[in-house]
Amino acid sequence: MTPVLSVENLTRRFGGIVAVEGVSFDVRAGEILGLIGPNGSGKSTLFNCILGQIKPSSGTVRLDGEDVTGLKPSALNRRGVGRTFQLLQVFPQLTVRENLILAGQEHVGTMLSRLFGPRDAGLAEEAENMLRFFRLDRVAEAAAGSLSYGQQKLLDAAMAFMAGPRLVLLDEPAGGVNPTMLGDLAERLAAYNRERGATFVVIEHNMDFIMGLCHRVVVLAEGRILKEGSPEEVRSDPAVIEAYLGH
Ligand SMILES: Nc1ncnc2c1ncn2[C@@H]1O[C@H](COP(=O)(O)OP(=O)(O)OP(=O)(O)O)[C@@H](O)[C@H]1O
Ligand SMILES: [Mg+2]
Repeated sequence: MTPVLSVENLTRRFGGIVAVEGVSFDVRAGEILGLIGPNGSGKSTLFNCILGQIKPSSGTVRLDGEDVTGLKPSALNRRGVGRTFQLLQVFPQLTVRENLILAGQEHVGTMLSRLFGPRDAGLAEEAENMLRFFRLDRVAEAAAGSLSYGQQKLLDAAMAFMAGPRLVLLDEPAGGVNPTMLGDLAERLAAYNRERGATFVVIEHNMDFIMGLCHRVVVLAEGRILKEGSPEEVRSDPAVIEAYLGH
């Protein structure tokens, strides 16, 4: 079967720094793939290249076998790809519900005019679904900035799901989140994967989170793939342990 996402020999340089070097991997439909590695190993750069935030220096990104290298984030969005960023992207002054509706919009220029318009019936309904699914309904009318950090991370994830994506790339969704919220987030992601067959690639430093959630893990070190395997294989690999300890 053609992989949902296929990265071939991807390299990205910043001046003299090679942030990502010759990285290749496939993501199968319905899979939850973990992407781990020490700080600065190129994880976010790899995501940014896949998602069109920046252009790779060389290499190819395929969606369902189709070359999408260098396509803009909005074009990828229309192809069913969602993402979360390492830093929170919620609008603190807007309510949780408004944040979700805005995330469902495609063009920033039309955001406010469409926020309460009749054309948003579908979005309002989907926001309602997401509120329930991510268990944010109790805080739907609260300003996002008034929520705990963990709840804001949950909202951030929910926003990436507003367009009903079939592939979502999450950059440290559990960063700074307390253990209870962490379990909740992992459980919600696993449920979404199970119920809707969505495919995930998840960057995360929290090993318990990765080990509990991911079917397979790719380890980056200094921009290259160091190891790929099951969570158990990766966790016990001496080179992986060394890469973390030596950092
Ligand atoms: N815009 C940029 N300009 C110059 N160098 C950059 C830029 N973005 C990233 N880098 C460099 O590329 C390397 C990889 O950074 P990247 O943010 O991809 O790592 P990461 O694995 O996501 O790290 P972390 O776990 O800390 O988030 C680092 O050396 C970083 O300093
Ligand atoms: Mg990063």
